[in-house]
Amino acid sequence: MSNLYIHYPFCKQACHYCNFHFSTSKDGRNDMFKLIKNELHLRSKELINPIESIYFGGGSPSLISTKNISDFIDLIKNKFEVKKNIEVTLEVNPDDVDEEYLKKIKDSGVNRLSIGIQSFFEKDLIIMNRAHNVRQAHKSLESVSKFFQNFSIDLIYGMPYSSLTNWKNNLEIALSYNPPHISAYALTVEEKTVLYHKVKEKKIDLLDDDDVKQQYEILINTLELKGYINYEFSNFAKKNHFSINNQNYWIGKPYLGLGPSAHSYDGKFLRSWNISNNHNYAKSIMSGVLDLKIEKLSTKDLYNEYLMTALRTHEGVSLAHVKKTFGKRYTMYLEDQVKRHFKYRNLFWDGDFLKVTKKAKFLTDGIAADLFLV
Ligand SMILES: C[S@@+](CC[C@H](N)C(=O)[O-])C[C@H]1O[C@@H](n2cnc3c(N)ncnc32)[C@H](O)[C@@H]1O
Ligand code: SF4
Repeated sequence: MSNLYIHYPFCKQACHYCNFHFSTSKDGRNDMFKLIKNELHLRSKELINPIESIYFGGGSPSLISTKNISDFIDLIKNKFEVKKNIEVTLEVNPDDVDEEYLKKIKDSGVNRLSIGIQSFFEKDLIIMNRAHNVRQAHKSLESVSKFFQNFSIDLIYGMPYSSLTNWKNNLEIALSYNPPHISAYALTVEEKTVLYHKVKEKKIDLLDDDDVKQQYEILINTLELKGYINYEFSNFAKKNHFSINNQNYWIGKPYLGLGPSAHSYDGKFLRSWNISNNHNYAKSIMSGVLDLKIEKLSTKDLYNEYLMTALRTHEGVSLAHVKKTFGKRYTMYLEDQVKRHFKYRNLFWDGDFLKVTKKAKFLTDGIAADLFLV
């Protein structure tokens, strides 16, 4: 079984915090989807049947015409073996969607939307340089909840100058739309972004780590009280609404990524990624020779990646899985490494599974990195 990911590398305007691969240029937009389809033909042997999930991400895939999305889904369903209840997700920006668009998207076979709301406060959206405003955020959610039963709201916490009250209000407003799924990410300052330069030039003050931690704790407590399961560090869902795409990715199932910058994984030890340049991507696809970088993962790399992804999930790290996949040397190493974290009550065993305690949850990535085999 595998996932198919499509990266659409264009956005209306550049959010000041984002370093995903995208271009705001109008050049090459019309041809991009044709090229992505050509890449699919070139790489169709890499797709492992049946396909369980299709994910249109970006960039802003809600800029793709509804006809192109519909034709692409038809092509996949006709040419490949797909699971009966295949999950088809489209990331949408609030300013791109109206009821006519949503209806067409639904008819084309998209059955899950991920809406990049980020915040319900104008001052946050302005700092982010989002293309949408608060009115559009509400309007998009009103329309989305009319047409789609399965949708997710993306939010960002830890915004400069935000207060705990701000953040609580953001969550309350999001919850008023009763979304089956919420992804909430801490704002990260990435190099080569406007935010990075503004912070460096002291034009923007970031929140203290402790304030960000408090916002994360409010996030977990508020959503758990409302019946959401924190099934991964940044992801919350009602029962039966976990994202298949995300889960498959975390458990190491194979995926094929199409489009500039998209990553792929063979489910064993090969990871590859496309060039992050739209023009050069187009040139390579037209010549029929893929411009791919390939990395062969060592057992140590795979072990470290398993620790990082599994510790972030609610299931945790399985000792039996470590033994079966990596061998006894790794289980002995892990059992030894966790000792000092038990002392600080950062970790605990739940049967075969190693999990992070609630008090240490915010520190999950650091704890995982500390357990790495170096
Ligand atoms: C790359 S975007 C693509 C989807 C769509 N263009 C959007 O903006 O909603 C996917 C998610 O990553 C989040 N994201 C990107 N850079 C981030 C950062 N530096 N800190 C926190 N969240 C980030 C976005 O806000 C968005 O919710
Ligand atoms: S956050 Fe989304 S809309 Fe903003 S620049 Fe990144 S990909 Fe584009």
